[in-house]
Amino acid sequence: MRKIMIAGNWKMNKTIAESIELVKGIKESGKVQVLVAPVFTALSAVCEARGDRKICVAAQNMHYEESGAFTGEISPLMVKDTGAKHVILGHSERRHIFKEDDALIKEKVLSAIAHGLKVILCIGEQLEEREAEKTNEVLDVQLTEGLKGITPDQMEDVIIAYEPVWAIGTGKVATPEQAQEAHAFCRRKIAELFGEDVAEKVRILYGGSLKPDNADGLLSQKDIDGGLIGGASLKADSFNAIIDAAERL
Ligand code: PGA
Repeated sequence: MRKIMIAGNWKMNKTIAESIELVKGIKESGKVQVLVAPVFTALSAVCEARGDRKICVAAQNMHYEESGAFTGEISPLMVKDTGAKHVILGHSERRHIFKEDDALIKEKVLSAIAHGLKVILCIGEQLEEREAEKTNEVLDVQLTEGLKGITPDQMEDVIIAYEPVWAIGTGKVATPEQAQEAHAFCRRKIAELFGEDVAEKVRILYGGSLKPDNADGLLSQKDIDGGLIGGASLKADSFNAIIDAAERL
């Protein structure tokens, strides 16, 4: 059985004080793994504010080197230093706004794993790619290239987030059927790359306009193991309502 994860990606939102307030309002769950990803400047404060409640904390990005002349970046050692144990890599905003490619994302994945961080690797097609029926092709390349060099054993530390770019922050959510189809494809691809056992265990989260009112339909799909939530994770009430939906499964 794969443990459901409900992850909040706060993106470039919230001051330190606001982040502390938000994490304090989020419920912990025995059944569902809850995770939040604040901005870098709030990571330590959020780790402290969650106290001993079962809430995981992730960075939203990192550089693959440990230190050096990389102005504006932070390293895996620095992420760990804050108390965070997870890192989101390859988010579509990193790929499309900041032009990160699969080769760079792969270096980050390898480095995060080598430093003992757990990775949430985001993948997903753009609208033109879906309309040109290239969704599977895009997912195939992003999984194959982004996970190059990772061993089947290391896949224990990898979570995949399927986030169709056209659904992120747009209010246009994938239907449960569309999402299930893409998740099933990703699981088959992971089986091909790492074997059936790994594919059965790996968690694949859905992201893109996931909200309390569409959570039941999406989360009940066979290959959907939770959600990566942007907009609806910025208020404790809506994020908690999604955790509640996951607990009802
Ligand atoms: P959204 O963002 O829920 O606001 O669509 C999801 C994400 O980018 O992870």
